[in-house]
Amino acid sequence: MKVTVLGAAGGIGQALALLLKNQLPAGSELSLYDIAPVTPGVAADLSHIPTDVKVTGFAGPDSAPALEGADVVLISAGVARKPGMDRSDLFNINAGIVKTLIGACADTCPKALIGIITNPVNTTVAIAAEVLKAKGVYDPARLFGVTTLDIIRSNTFVAEAKGLNPADLNVPVIGGHSGVTILPLLSQSGSVFTAEETAALTTRIQNAGTEVVEAKAGGGSATLSMGQAAANFGLSLVRALNGEEGIVECTYVEGPGDKARFFAQPVLLGKNGVEEVLGYGELTEFEANALESALDTLKGDITLGEEFVNA
Ligand code: NAD
Ligand code: LMR
Repeated sequence: MKVTVLGAAGGIGQALALLLKNQLPAGSELSLYDIAPVTPGVAADLSHIPTDVKVTGFAGPDSAPALEGADVVLISAGVARKPGMDRSDLFNINAGIVKTLIGACADTCPKALIGIITNPVNTTVAIAAEVLKAKGVYDPARLFGVTTLDIIRSNTFVAEAKGLNPADLNVPVIGGHSGVTILPLLSQSGSVFTAEETAALTTRIQNAGTEVVEAKAGGGSATLSMGQAAANFGLSLVRALNGEEGIVECTYVEGPGDKARFFAQPVLLGKNGVEEVLGYGELTEFEANALESALDTLKGDITLGEEFVNA
């Protein structure tokens, strides 16, 4: 199994690479790529950790050597928010970065499962789909927006509120990955909340990225929790590729399209990526209203990505 991280010298990339070096199955290969010249050094550093995972590192303008033979590609290349910015403010820089890197994936490892972390995820996944489509290799079952951070935050905050162990929780989060498009289904969390608690907790989960951006005071956005989230998601992809059954993750994929072309919801993973896009059960009135009022934003984010590639 070969996993490639693009953006591997960054805050997320280094945390993610450390977790993968320690948790990928024995015999795997971890390939790191970043435009930053330090990247081979990051690989050398990780390679001294005594696990049976071979690490290679590549820097410079060409990502192809890192992508050759990749089964899974996780992309966190790009710029992060500073206080006062929305994720959509990252579009101008990150759209072009994702377009270029996905072009290289299409040319070098068209069958790889690709997880996109780079923001704005609602839009960068649409960009990726259109680039892959233009190259004639788009398979919706193999492209994912990584929204796992929203799930692990929801688990943490629900556990804090109710005095539970977050490791026992798995709160579904549907929609997208920014502001009102992040919709935690607290009614399916296993805990009971009043209407006021539900509204407050939903808002906290939607603003959790901003909470970190402000606390880091100009030093970037979530990197360590995101590294953990991306490792969880990437390892689920690897386990599914290795034939493990019953692996379900909430992730932003092109599904049935009843709400929006791309939508985050529970997905059964298999050897070819998405095996089945699962339903997300009954919504409460609060959740249904929140979802309906987020759809125009989500669809606008998606259209922006489609038009960026096709204009
Ligand atoms: P960072 O600045 O620490 O790292 C980004 C890395 O990308 C840098 O090392 C940079 O050299 C590299 N890079 C830039 N252009 C590149 C290119 N063309 N090819 C290869 N590498 C390139 O940022 P970070 O904190 O790691 O965040 C990365 C991205 O992830 C941001 O867009 C951020 O908003 C996003 N993010 C997403 C989630 C999520 O839940 N999906 C969570 C947190 C952050
Ligand atoms: C997050 O949710 O932490 C990330 O999307 C980064 C950000 O800009 O908020």
